[in-house]
Amino acid sequence: MRTALYPGSFDPVTVGHEEIIRRACALFDRVIVGVLYNPNKQGALTVERRMELLRDTTEGISNVEIAAFPDMLLVEAARRCGADAVLRGLRGQADAEMELQMARMNRRLAGVETLMMASSPETVAVSSSVAREIARFGGSLRGIVPETVREKAEKWLNPAGKD
Ligand code: PNS
Repeated sequence: MRTALYPGSFDPVTVGHEEIIRRACALFDRVIVGVLYNPNKQGALTVERRMELLRDTTEGISNVEIAAFPDMLLVEAARRCGADAVLRGLRGQADAEMELQMARMNRRLAGVETLMMASSPETVAVSSSVAREIARFGGSLRGIVPETVREKAEKWLNPAGKD
C-alpha cells in the first residue's frame, strides 16, 4: 500500500490543489491531504474551515483522507501518516526554488522523500493568496476554487460576508 502525504496551507483549497489531489489519487493507494502550519503566512480561514472545503472538494474520491497536523514539522506529519512520499505541486520557477530547498531539508532531517508534480498550464496563475485577495474585495472565485466550495469560500473570505 503506497501512501502519499500532500501537505499545504489550503487557505483556501484552489482548483490547482484539486488537480494535484485527483492526479495523486490515480497514482497512490492512499493520499492524505494534510493541513499544516506555514509560519510565513498569516492564516485567513480556521483549520476547521480549510478542512471542510477540502472534504467538499474531494467528496466521492475513495482513497483520499483529510487531516490536520497543526504545530508540527512536515517530517513529523509524514511519519504519523506512514507516508512513503510527500507530494508537492510545482507551478513554475518561483515555486521550484523554495520547494527544492524544502525537499532537501526534509530529506536531511528525516529521510523523507518529496515528489513534485507539474501543475497544468491552466492553473499556473491560480493561488490561495490570489483567491483570498479577490474574495476580500467581493470578487468571484469562479475558476479559482473548486465550484463545489465557491460559495462558502467567497463568504468566509469576505470580511463583509455574513456568517
Ligand atoms: O501551501 P503552502 O503554504 O505552500 O504549504 C507549506 C507547508 C505548510 C507545507 C510548509 O510551510 C510546512 O512544511 N510547514 C510545516 C513546518 C515545517 O516542517 N517547516 C520546515 C520545512 S523545511
